[in-house]
Amino acid sequence: MTERVLSGMQPSADSLHLGNYLGALVSWIDLQESCDAFFFIPDMHAVTVAQNPAELTERVRRTAAQYIAAGIDPERSTLFVQSHVPQHAQLAWVMICQTGMGEAGRMTQFKDKSAKSGSEHAGVGLFTYPMLQAADILLYQPHSVPVGEDQKQHVELTRNLAQRFNHRYGETFRVPELTVPQAGARIYDLQSPTAKMSKSAESPNGLLNLMDTDKRMAKKIRSAVTDDGAEIRFDREAKPGVSNLLSIHSALSGKSFEQLEDEFAGKMYGHLKVDLAEIVVERLGPVRDRALELLDDPAELDALLARGAQKARAAAEPVLADVYQKLGFLPAAA
Ligand code: AMP
Ligand code: TRP
Repeated sequence: MTERVLSGMQPSADSLHLGNYLGALVSWIDLQESCDAFFFIPDMHAVTVAQNPAELTERVRRTAAQYIAAGIDPERSTLFVQSHVPQHAQLAWVMICQTGMGEAGRMTQFKDKSAKSGSEHAGVGLFTYPMLQAADILLYQPHSVPVGEDQKQHVELTRNLAQRFNHRYGETFRVPELTVPQAGARIYDLQSPTAKMSKSAESPNGLLNLMDTDKRMAKKIRSAVTDDGAEIRFDREAKPGVSNLLSIHSALSGKSFEQLEDEFAGKMYGHLKVDLAEIVVERLGPVRDRALELLDDPAELDALLARGAQKARAAAEPVLADVYQKLGFLPAAA
């Protein structure tokens, strides 16, 4: 049997960044070769914090366009938008009812996010966010859920909720494996290379966006912060800047650190940057152009997402029906 996998990334910016691309998207594209893959855009999670409606609509399309442009094949994978599949909200309610207040209160992402907005102002949606995520996952009975380190706790909760439900109501859900992020590169901010690259970067120049122009990408690489000394060598502790550039190079060129160290022996940081800028533009430029092309025809893009949602609903419906029956909900007469 082909393994099923499921994952998603929030549509929280106009562009994905290099960390999203190398840390998540590239491994998704790999997975779709060997797995029955479900990838979705969690727009319902996005509204756990205030969103500008027009901007959200646009960001969902832009995120979908970037997934496809990068190589997610909507014929091979099931690609859809969360809010197009009502079973997510329906199962989320059931998951909320299985979760203890204390258990939910221990979620570190909730604690971090609510501390930021002041816990009085944090919405209840932020509190129930992990239960919606559990529903996202359990609806599709995936064998595994490839996610970043920061999402581990949510997948762990999902496993607990699945086991609890199975125990109370009888075997219903597959308990998904937590796949530790594979070799997926961890990318750091180009301006402060000890911090993870993130959309909340302090300086816009630290963040390399997939949708940046060629010129802007090249400029950001060329002005990346490097370290003392002149040697091009991978050493995260002593040389975080150069090491980050080597990681990006290696992830894109497929060359090992030793190969790169040999290639750049006796050369200056500038050489590495020029070479890397070329590689980045060569790889990401066409992704951006393809995404822009897709965005030029929003009707076609929306139709494609509608077909994905149809496939997703077909998978989710029987699982939700089983859950309703196990709970003892009176079936609605036909
Ligand atoms: P986020 O943008 O934080 O919602 O992350 C979406 C996905 O991108 C997750 O799977 C993360 O693990 C991955 N990701 C985000 N930032 C980075 C980074 N700097 N390096 C590697 N992977 C990242
Ligand atoms: N919470 C995840 C994130 O911020 C996104 C997400 C929502 C997700 N539902 C999911 C990821 C289900 C994997 C599976 O990155």
